[in-house]
Amino acid sequence: MSFLTITGRRPLSGSLTVQGAKNSVLPILAACVLVPGECVLHNCPDLSDVRSTLAILQGLGCRVRREGSTVCVDASGVEYRAIPPERMRQMRSSFIFFGAILGRVGEAALGYPGGCELGPRPIDLHLEALRALGAQIWEENSVVFGRGGSCLRGAAVHLPFPSVGATENAMLVACACSGDTVITGAAQEPEIEDLQAFLNAAGAVVRGAGTDRIVICGARPLHGTQHRVMSDRIVAATCLAAVGAAGGQARLQGVSGRWITPVTAVLEQAGCCIEQKRDGLYIRASRPMGDGGFVRTAPYPGFPTDAQAVVMAALAAGAGESCFEETMFQSRYRHVPELGRMGADIRVDGRRALVRGRPLHAAQVESTDLRGGAALVVAALAAEGTSRVGALHHIDRGYECVEEMFARLGAQIRREDTQEEVTPCRRQEENEIVTAGAAASALSISCWP
Ligand code: UD1
Repeated sequence: MSFLTITGRRPLSGSLTVQGAKNSVLPILAACVLVPGECVLHNCPDLSDVRSTLAILQGLGCRVRREGSTVCVDASGVEYRAIPPERMRQMRSSFIFFGAILGRVGEAALGYPGGCELGPRPIDLHLEALRALGAQIWEENSVVFGRGGSCLRGAAVHLPFPSVGATENAMLVACACSGDTVITGAAQEPEIEDLQAFLNAAGAVVRGAGTDRIVICGARPLHGTQHRVMSDRIVAATCLAAVGAAGGQARLQGVSGRWITPVTAVLEQAGCCIEQKRDGLYIRASRPMGDGGFVRTAPYPGFPTDAQAVVMAALAAGAGESCFEETMFQSRYRHVPELGRMGADIRVDGRRALVRGRPLHAAQVESTDLRGGAALVVAALAAEGTSRVGALHHIDRGYECVEEMFARLGAQIRREDTQEEVTPCRRQEENEIVTAGAAASALSISCWP
């Protein structure tokens, strides 16, 4: 079992290039299934979620290669329509494969997706959108079956809530439909624009991503392509929160402040100086931070729910009062009791959390989910003494070597193992890639009625 030891209360300083975006690379990797050729993706972060996704692709019959931060996926030989349930449960984004497989193979059979435990995470909006495009969908024994093929027809799809995943699934199926599709009520996240850029580079015709109306001209022949994955705005928000909490100054390269305006606005209100320049996003902060005001999470362009925990941790280590309202997920305050172990004064009342900033002290804490784990790292960087943050598998899903990232900013942070002989998780995942193909093919035969 790995854990981080972090000695806090040292100002951070330095420059770093922000890793590729997890929430962009995962749907783009799924979209590769639609393309009967080789797709070369640059700036792919080395995350456990990415490794799981590559294993899924191999299991479906794709050829997958990784060279540094470049991943090549050749889906010419895709033949399977199912994914082993244990793979599905590893991430929420595994369900984007439903649209991709349906569009390419014409049939799909997938179990329910997993991901961070943030409360109920239904897939009804995904399924309704795909039904609107003509797909026949039914469920048996917790497996969702879909039939597409010649039934798929471009149509008007309205999403009553701008779900990121449902928008992406609908975009992928729409590429395989005859005729045009208009998605209204679409999610507007920059990662959707990145997916559109990838699809267009592969020969699709998609317009409007970044607005709530996306138009897809269907049935265009797709071909192999190259694409550079955008930088991760939530990782950037995490770095900004850490500098705000610990004090110091940093330059973040590759990321646009425009993608996280609500986050920079809160940090600025709390006293940080943030400036977008041509060569990066700059932050200067002296601790302690002041009031963060009222922070309400909302779909893009609102305050991102994924940045709620890290900004809360930073403000909890400050000297002002702030109030958070989480509107996106039911239980996204699981980091709060852990922050409490470090002395944070946070009172949760339903969807709201009242934060009274005060100096934090070191403690032994456990990550509860991906962003909650990152919040503990932020708090530890601001706390007096040496903290220990455990359950790193959560953090490793979305942060590429989190300890190296903060060490580059001068943090005193180290990853340690409780056992000497632990097999590196990377090697374990690579071994699984070899066996996933056989498992997927077995499942596709056994569960199709
Ligand atoms: C994506 C992000 C995740 C982020 C979330 C919200 C990826 C891989 N993950 O997740 O990091 O926290 O957006 O910004 O991109 N909902 C339904 N029915 C559905 C789908 C969603 O009720 O069919 C609800 C969810 O329960 C949740 C809300 O809609 O309350 C937002 O979910 P959604 O935008 O779909 O998030 P994800 O795509 O799962």
